[in-house]
This record gives sequence, C-alpha cells and structure tokens, in this order.
Amino acid sequence: MRLNSDELSMLDGKQGPARQKAMELLVKYGEALGAERLVDTNNICAGVAGSAPAAREFAVKAGNMDAVFSEFHLDSAESVEIPDVKAFSCHINQAIDPANWRIQRVPPEMYELCMRHEWFFARIGVQLLNTCAPYLVGNIPIKGQHCAWMESSAVPLCNSVFGGRTNTEGCESTGAAMLTGKIPYWGYHLDENRLGTHLVDVGFDLETVMDWGLLGYCAGEVVQEKVPVLNGIKQIPNLTRLQHFAAAIASSGGVEMFHIVGVTPEANSLDQAFGKKRPTTSLRFGSVERREAYEKLNSSAKDSNVDFVVLGCPHYGIEEIWRVCRLLEGKRIHASTNLWIFAPRAIKDIADRSGYTEIIRNSGAVLMTDNCPALGQVSPKGVRVVATDSAKQAHYLPALLGFSTWFGSQEECVRAAITGRWEGELK
Ligand code: F3S
Repeated sequence: MRLNSDELSMLDGKQGPARQKAMELLVKYGEALGAERLVDTNNICAGVAGSAPAAREFAVKAGNMDAVFSEFHLDSAESVEIPDVKAFSCHINQAIDPANWRIQRVPPEMYELCMRHEWFFARIGVQLLNTCAPYLVGNIPIKGQHCAWMESSAVPLCNSVFGGRTNTEGCESTGAAMLTGKIPYWGYHLDENRLGTHLVDVGFDLETVMDWGLLGYCAGEVVQEKVPVLNGIKQIPNLTRLQHFAAAIASSGGVEMFHIVGVTPEANSLDQAFGKKRPTTSLRFGSVERREAYEKLNSSAKDSNVDFVVLGCPHYGIEEIWRVCRLLEGKRIHASTNLWIFAPRAIKDIADRSGYTEIIRNSGAVLMTDNCPALGQVSPKGVRVVATDSAKQAHYLPALLGFSTWFGSQEECVRAAITGRWEGELK
C-alpha cells in the first residue's frame, strides 16, 4: 500500500503509540482488501466499545476505557493511552437509554459503565449524537465526502441519498479512522463500484412508509449485497420512507448503495445509474411481491395478543413522533402492553418543548433515546409478542430476542398498543 509522509509518520510511531496501532490496523485491513492507498475522511460514525456485552465484560475486568478502546477499536491487547480524534466523529446508538435505564431493566453497574463509556468518548471528541440516524441531527454527508460509517441502515443513505462515500465499517476500522483521519480507499469510495448491478422495476404505487419497507425487504433478498437501481417510482419519497427502505434492504440483503432513477444524485437517468454496465438481473416489484414480503415479515407471529410495541427503527424524526401523538392523544395504552418509541436525544428535546413527550407519557408510553431493543437487547419483562412498523426490527427481533413479531403500519401498531391486540392487515 502506498502511504504519504503523514501516514508514514503515524506508522513509524512519531505521532504516538495509539495512532501507530491505528495505522498498523488500517494498513493490514486495506492490504487484505486490495486497497492501494488510504483516503482522508472527516466523517466517522461509530460505536460499540462499552456497548456490546463482550466489551462490557472486558471493561469491568480492565477497569479503564483506554484498555477497552485498545482492545475493541485498535485490536490491541496492549493498552495505550487514547488521544483526541483527528477527524469529525459521532457516536451511533449505545446500549441503554440513560434517562430510562430502570424501565429498561438495566442493572446499575451497566448504567454506570455505559456512562463511563459516554464520558470517555466525549472527552476524546466523539460527539454524542447516539443515534442510528445521525443525518436527522446534523451529520449530513456532503456529496463526494469520504466517510467511515458503521450503522447498516445509515450506510445506504450516506452513499445513495446524500452522495457520501462509505463502506459498512466495523468498530476496529472506525476506531482507527477516528485517530488517523484515514480509511482504506476501496469499495464504495471508488466510482466504478457505485454503478448499478440490478434493475428493480417498481410496478406498484408506493403510497406509505410500510410500502417502502416492503420494497426494501423484497429487493434486499434478491440483490443481496449488490447495487439495485429502482425504476418507475412515481412519487419522490421523503426521508422517512427512504429510512425504512434503507433499513429493510440492508436487513434482508446487505445493500450499501442503491439508486432511484430521477431521485438520487448519481442516477439522473438509467444510463447514469448503470454506466457501461448492464443489469445482471431484473426484478419486478408488484402487488404479488409486496404481499410475499409482508407475509415473510409476519411469519413468526401467531398470537394476536400484543405485549410490546416498538416504534422508531430507524430512530424517528420529529414528524413521526408528532404523528404518533395525534394517534395517542387522550388515550391510554392497554394495561398489559408497552409502547416504546425511539428517537435521537436531540429530537427528544424538540418533542419535550412541543408537548409531545407529555402526550406520550400521559398515554403510558415512553419516548426513549440513545438505543433500541434489537441493539441494546432491552425489553419489558415477560414479552412474548411484539408489533412494529419497522421491517428491520421485525427481521431481527424473532432471532435476537425470540419474540414473535407483527409488522404493520404505524397506525396499526399504535392501535395494537391501545387495544392490546393485533388487527393489522395488508390493504
Ligand atoms: Fe437503529 Fe436499532 Fe433499528 S440501531 S436501525 S433502531 S435496529
């Protein structure tokens, strides 16, 4: 791998042991991937140390966060002092909601550990956005900007909608990127890998957020980790619809980039989206495919009695919170059902000032921040049956937490929270 003088000085240890280990890791990682060089990045979105169960166990034994960062972000058994980050970095979800950890049944030791984790990251300059939707709270990549993002639902938006350039990174590569401001130049950083591979002919009018989740779920299964090009979209989707699409397509497949002809910045036309390539496969999304995706997402659920409703995956923006409030105002959640709604901490601040948090609280529901059930593996006691408006959450919860899960619209989910029963159907 070719390295410039700044990169060589880090590799030689002239900028301290932590940056040296970070550079060693990036060189090893880049060479394994066939990258010829590194590229400057100033937009890193990362998490994990202290959030994942293994890291928490390690942190209890090690007793200090430098050791945890060294082990989990630099792949180093030797603990080194971690200096300030070199590039703009923000934190994705962490393991708990610091304001609602008791409701989440989190033990005090874990709460304290998560707080130590936060303070450590804040001290070295990692901004505590604590969300899987950093683009809702100020981190919107610029077209062409090289990024190093971890969160699978946010990566396709970074590449496809904002025109940033990232691969789905891990905690080691993002940790090393924070300390060096570098990431291997491969994958979606390169023009040729950003061209479409599969044509998705959309023959159904996508009228709801749920439709976009179903389209994503269906397309992800077919294209896996390739680059789909959606053609035939009649209505420009808003960010909420794209969030649900991206989260779904990255769950059933491993999609990191997509194009929507006439909508996304590298797809003014089919020719631009595919370049000189021609699609390897074509997929049609019509009412049959939509129903199949719906049935797959609901395949784990049999019992109509719902005891847990999860909204806000990916994290909700303020408009979605307002919509939930319109459905909840003046009503109470069923005695044997819990409704947890997830949003970035900064969005909750707006909800507080808008009176939305109070409406949610008065209904018996909780507006939570910083985490989610799938990632934090937190849930109310005795949950068996979940309802959610998120294809991603419906995909992961049965496997991760063993819950049978209903998937439907936001309105159906709120109704289930109020009545305690699932009455959703595909219209
Ligand atoms: Fe975000 Fe958790 Fe969903 S990280 S995308 S709310 S599974």
